[in-house]
Amino acid sequence: MKLVSLRRFTKNYSATLLMKINQLNIVVLTGAGISAESGLRTFRDNGGLWEEHPVEEVATPQAWQRNPSMVWGFYQSRRRQLSEVEPNPAHFALSKLAEYAKDFFLITQNVDDLHERSGIMDVVHMHGQLRMLRCELSGKSEERMEPSDLENDFQFCTCCETASRLRPDIVWFGEQPMNMVEIYNKIETCDVFIVVGSSGHVYPAAGLVNFAKQSNAQTILINLEEPLNSFMFDETHFGSAGKILPKLVAEWIDQQE
Ligand code: OAD
Repeated sequence: MKLVSLRRFTKNYSATLLMKINQLNIVVLTGAGISAESGLRTFRDNGGLWEEHPVEEVATPQAWQRNPSMVWGFYQSRRRQLSEVEPNPAHFALSKLAEYAKDFFLITQNVDDLHERSGIMDVVHMHGQLRMLRCELSGKSEERMEPSDLENDFQFCTCCETASRLRPDIVWFGEQPMNMVEIYNKIETCDVFIVVGSSGHVYPAAGLVNFAKQSNAQTILINLEEPLNSFMFDETHFGSAGKILPKLVAEWIDQQE
């Protein structure tokens, strides 16, 4: 069922889903903020990743051509870090939400695997995944997380007759995000669109809320600080996702029972 959202530009409502959770088709978009409480640095906050490693040095196809060792080293250290972090209460709150919603679809800009490890298996990673590496020649991706895959040496594919070098399976600046057709299709038919922990700087992710609004979805934001696109949301909750999201999801479930 499609809803028309009545509330616009409201702030800090505690729990205002327009229908019971088990009648709703919910789409969630997460960003680096949801993994911050697990110990993974965001990109643009103070001390964020891009401060120490400028985008143009580690996150563009040109950087990979110019200095593949530096780019490889950056992503290998992030790949190794995955085994040192755990999902936090915000990730677990979303997996609970997934259980109760009529339909649930999770899009993440994050390249970590914390949503999967909190119990949501079919996550759409629009900016790629650290667990995967991609053959430079065939473009095929393979999961490569054995200890030997995490060393600083370049790794080679299993798909070509003569093994080709693998690159990180990450969407760099200037490249197309993944799965956009599916993402727009899911948002077009959703009742509620929730964004967690994203600064609204990077498109097309930052514009998905506009598309959700045009599609008459109710839009809800949970973020530490006010992001650039916060005016597009019907309802905004400012603070840490690990505190706010479990509370909101518990209230939404209570309303159903
Ligand atoms: P950013 O680093 O741009 O923004 C993170 C947002 O999370 C900020 O608005 C913070 O206020 C918020 N935040 C921090 N801690 C939080 C917490 N505990 N609870 C809730 N919110 C919190 O990260 P993204 O918006 O995800 O792309 O960045 C988008 C893309 O830019 C990334 O996917 C990456 C980057 O360049 C690529 O690498 C292709």
